[in-house]
Amino acid sequence: MASKMTFLFMLSFVILTLIKGEIVNQNNSSAFDFIRNLQGCCHKGSNVQGLHELKLYLDRFGYLSYEPAHYQPNANSTSQSFDDELESALKRYQSFYHLNTTGTLDGPTISRMVMPRCGHADIKAHQQMHSKSLHTVSHFQFTPDSPKWPVEKTNLSYAFGFNYSDAYVPPVVRAFNTWAAASGYFTFYRVNDIASADIKISFERGDHGDGGAFDGPYGILAHAFYPPDGRMHYDAAETWSVGPGPVPDTIDLQTVALHEIGHLLGLGHSEDENAIMWSSIPSGSLKGLNADDILGVKALYGLK
Ligand SMILES: *[C@@H]1O[C@H](CO)[C@@H](O)[C@H](O)[C@H]1NC(C)=O
Ligand SMILES: *[C@@H]1O[C@H](CO)[C@@H](O)[C@H](O)[C@H]1NC(C)=O
Ligand SMILES: *[C@@H]1O[C@H](CO)[C@@H](O)[C@H](O)[C@H]1NC(C)=O
Ligand SMILES: *[C@@H]1O[C@H](CO)[C@@H](O)[C@H](O)[C@H]1NC(C)=O
Ligand SMILES: *[C@@H]1O[C@H](CO)[C@@H](O)[C@H](O)[C@H]1NC(C)=O
Ligand SMILES: *[C@@H]1O[C@H](CO)[C@@H](O)[C@H](O)[C@H]1NC(C)=O
Ligand SMILES: [Zn+2]
Ligand SMILES: [Zn+2]
Repeated sequence: MASKMTFLFMLSFVILTLIKGEIVNQNNSSAFDFIRNLQGCCHKGSNVQGLHELKLYLDRFGYLSYEPAHYQPNANSTSQSFDDELESALKRYQSFYHLNTTGTLDGPTISRMVMPRCGHADIKAHQQMHSKSLHTVSHFQFTPDSPKWPVEKTNLSYAFGFNYSDAYVPPVVRAFNTWAAASGYFTFYRVNDIASADIKISFERGDHGDGGAFDGPYGILAHAFYPPDGRMHYDAAETWSVGPGPVPDTIDLQTVALHEIGHLLGLGHSEDENAIMWSSIPSGSLKGLNADDILGVKALYGLK
């Protein structure tokens, strides 16, 4: 009897798990899914479908620097080949993410690449060539000529895009308050006129005209521009969460706001996985500012 009960209990558990799996899985496909097919696919000299897209990915995030602006989208045999440039780009990527610098598409590298992330490049194209000019006091990064807000601009105004949902305001306000307290330097205040605001926050979909097209669910989640531009965009195709607490299979809006405000203040991506300025934010998780982020903003603005 007891074992029959146990069996029924386990059976219902399995069925519920299957149903739940199906619901959750309805559409969690990501623009980065193509990368999974490349695991262990090839080595230098190989010609494989998908390598062209991988090169676009590495170019977008700063590991290749195709001229003039972007890699030509018409794939041909050259662009699908695993060449020296691709190998070097993979090694730079692996080095940034503290992976073994194998220069191959191994499991840990693939797992890292498919994670949802910020659209901002990890390394600026000119930095990879002159990496000695990188500021390396800690894991945060900026260059000596990094754009920042002028000294008279410490009280920054922000505004939300037309028909920005009220539900998404409080998490952003909390994120501004967190940076204000951590920096002990910046303050932020809301205005209505987005055209004149220092910081302009909106939801955007697909190609929205700033050169950083969004890509549907997962993949790229958001991006923001360095000072004094002030634009901060969320990908409207994500399932966003305002909590409280982590919500499975959604992206936490406040966590992403904290990250993007870091860019708005002039910070790049950190190599410290615990930093808010680490490039990726997994679904169903929350994150706050870390010592590395605070050191970063203080070093950039010469604060004590
Ligand atoms: C999942 O979403 C993507 C992007 O919105 C879409 O292209 C794709 O067709 C969807 N897949 C399914 C199975 O609904
Ligand atoms: C989609 O769901 C499956 C099953 O739950 C999971 O293994 C996979 O990692 C999910 N993909 C993304 C991009 O979240
Ligand atoms: C292949 O693409 C590369 C890069 O776009 C280009 O330089 C090259 O001329 C192309 N080759 C052919 C045969 O089309
Ligand atoms: C690097 O390679 C070593 C030896 O193969 C392995 O033990 C280690 O887990 C690898 N590290 C990463 C981050 O993949
Ligand atoms: C910032 O500017 C606004 C608008 O002028 C003002 O109301 C607010 O008091 C200022 N805050 C600080 C800390 O200076
Ligand atoms: C914003 O307004 C436009 C035009 O009225 C509408 O088409 C769009 O669906 C709205 N967006 C949201 C997120 O409500
Ligand atoms: Zn970022
Ligand atoms: Zn944008």
